[in-house]
Amino acid sequence: MSETTHVNAAHSGTFQIGGDLSVNRLGFGAMRVTGEGIWGDPADREGALATLRRLPELGVNLIDTADSYGPAVSEELIREALHPYDSVVIATKAGLTRTGPDVWVPCGRPEYLIQQAHLSRRRLGVDRIDLWQLHRIDPQVPRDEQFGAVRDLMEQGVIRHAGLSEVGVEEIEAARRVFPVATVQNLYNLVHRKSEEVLEYCEREGIGFLPWYPLAAGSLAQPGGVLAEVAARTRAMPSQVALAWVLRRSPVMLPIPGTGKVKHLEENVAAAGVQLSDDDFRALDGVGRQEWERQQAARR
Ligand SMILES: NC(=O)c1ccc[n+]([C@@H]2O[C@H](COP(=O)([O-])OP(=O)(O)OC[C@H]3O[C@@H](n4cnc5c(N)ncnc54)[C@H](OP(=O)(O)O)[C@@H]3O)[C@@H](O)[C@H]2O)c1
Repeated sequence: MSETTHVNAAHSGTFQIGGDLSVNRLGFGAMRVTGEGIWGDPADREGALATLRRLPELGVNLIDTADSYGPAVSEELIREALHPYDSVVIATKAGLTRTGPDVWVPCGRPEYLIQQAHLSRRRLGVDRIDLWQLHRIDPQVPRDEQFGAVRDLMEQGVIRHAGLSEVGVEEIEAARRVFPVATVQNLYNLVHRKSEEVLEYCEREGIGFLPWYPLAAGSLAQPGGVLAEVAARTRAMPSQVALAWVLRRSPVMLPIPGTGKVKHLEENVAAAGVQLSDDDFRALDGVGRQEWERQQAARR
């Protein structure tokens, strides 16, 4: 699609997080505005700030971040670029500690989760965090203690809505016995379909589903692949077809493609204007499932 700047994220439709927080479905992942290994400052700080400042101009009003991105760098840049916020929902997380580039160690001790939520609130410069997600359920800590910390944060008004990340249906149901789960954030894209059952559960229950790594189109993005063929026919880029497909997959789908580059952001937002025919949607679905099954078989 050549006219990338004319399409607004509003073309992706809206979703009410927790039933009362309206966002345009195509969001943004702010993990990529940090340094190599999601560690420290980005190589191109001005480019990262420009990318964040472009978000409201393109109608993107759901930004995903975490205390651990940098750590702290992503939240600090969001504040520098966009504070005071104008109708932007910032979704942050905690539950993973950082001791170096590419190192992520879960810590679900309740006192730590509560401390991190307070620090995120201060760094972001908000009275209350709109959406706070438990980044991982820590296997070393009883999960009800972690869920209890989330409930306490809600009751104390530190956070408004809460979500989970990398969870199965049984874990979502266990959490829902302790606090209302507004969103789930799992790895999902056309060729990574492990979370189909979770997605279907979220759709039935009206829970927002944030697929992370939505652009990992892998072999399908190669010339000659199905993405490329549909892309050529719809005059879109393969990455835009991958995003258009996840958007079409479910009304609760809230993709958060990540980039530190204005050009890539504009391309990704323009995916909201890519219309897939029923045939294209089904063909892509079939090829995506086949590719996922092929990957599973290769691992066995
Ligand atoms: N809950 C979790 O455990 C978890 C884990 C990982 C990520 N996340 C969240 O999910 C978001 C998305 O995940 P992700 O960033 O790993 O994966 P992604 O959005 O699928 O892909 C991001 C990568 O694709 C590149 N890219 C973006 N737009 C592009 C375009 N139009 N053309 C070509 N390349 C493009 C980016 O590089 P450039 O910067 O060079 O554009 C970046 O390397 C993250 O930002 C984060 O908020 C959550």
